[in-house]
Amino acid sequence: MPTARSTPNIALIKYWGNRQNELRLPAADSLSMSLSSPSVEIDADFASALTIRSFEADGSPRELTDTHVDRFRKHLELTKNFLKTLGAERAIPASVSIVIRSAIPPAVGLASSAAVFSCLARAYAALVEPVIALTDTQMSVIGRLGSGSAARSIFGGYAALCVGTGSGIASSFAEQIAPEDHWTLHDIVIIPSKEEKKVGSTEGHALAPTSPFFATRVEAITLRRQQECIDAILARDFEKLQKVAEEDSLDMHHVMETSTPPLHYLTEDTFSIIKAIEEIRASEHIPVLYTMDAGPTVHLLCPSESLQRIRAFARTQKGCTVFETSTGPGAAMV
Ligand code: PMV
Repeated sequence: MPTARSTPNIALIKYWGNRQNELRLPAADSLSMSLSSPSVEIDADFASALTIRSFEADGSPRELTDTHVDRFRKHLELTKNFLKTLGAERAIPASVSIVIRSAIPPAVGLASSAAVFSCLARAYAALVEPVIALTDTQMSVIGRLGSGSAARSIFGGYAALCVGTGSGIASSFAEQIAPEDHWTLHDIVIIPSKEEKKVGSTEGHALAPTSPFFATRVEAITLRRQQECIDAILARDFEKLQKVAEEDSLDMHHVMETSTPPLHYLTEDTFSIIKAIEEIRASEHIPVLYTMDAGPTVHLLCPSESLQRIRAFARTQKGCTVFETSTGPGAAMV
């Protein structure tokens, strides 16, 4: 039985909003760094009916709600539809059994769905290999069908989810911008609250277009931000990366906060961490950037030269859980 492993990624240009919700076709490009940990492992096998079992890192079972199971069922159905477009409809004859082992705390701003669905895409690719050898690009499409950001975790290092055109199931896919060894950045993750977020990203994406600032953000990414971010990564220009990543993260939260209904993911703790980082940067002139996904968690990205300082700062944050990771390899078979 094939076992795949994958990790979350941290977006530098955020994916928020779709042009088509069911197929998770994004409204704009996005870009992220794949992380070295925490990881998810999935065993997948053929079965007559869908079964999913999920476990924590310590082996204790994790309960799956009907909503979770429906998401996997829907994802399998869409994956089969995609395989059909490739002429491989018999690749998954009936259904699958899936065993998930996850070291990721659920819904704390670490994108567990990105790790899970990129991992599942990799496991499905191994399962269908006797019928069809899928490319990384095709695996990224399968990942995207479960969670848009999962498309990017197929690749190691830095990856972009390209918006694409049209409404075809494979019209948006991810590609690698630079491999893992191109530029090691550390991600010091500060988690102020372990409370699960109220509105998940699937619902959030559907609300995004109700914000009057949604179209402006899509335009800024399309005309400038995505390319600036790619250029900064290729040139290992941290200052340039910091400017564009912070601008885009705050802009995404502006869209979230102005949608109907509004989504407020950032808390007072988030803002106080941001303020402290801006002060440290101004007084000590060290490279560090902050970015937040759909939760209060702050990701502090920095090169090795400022790691000690940022680590020390993170340790002073009372009541917060701190987690450290760095640039990682993407999804792979174990
Ligand atoms: O892949 P999803 O549907 O969980 O959306 C991810 C959304 C953000 O984490 C907020 C941004 C991103 O690009 O990862």
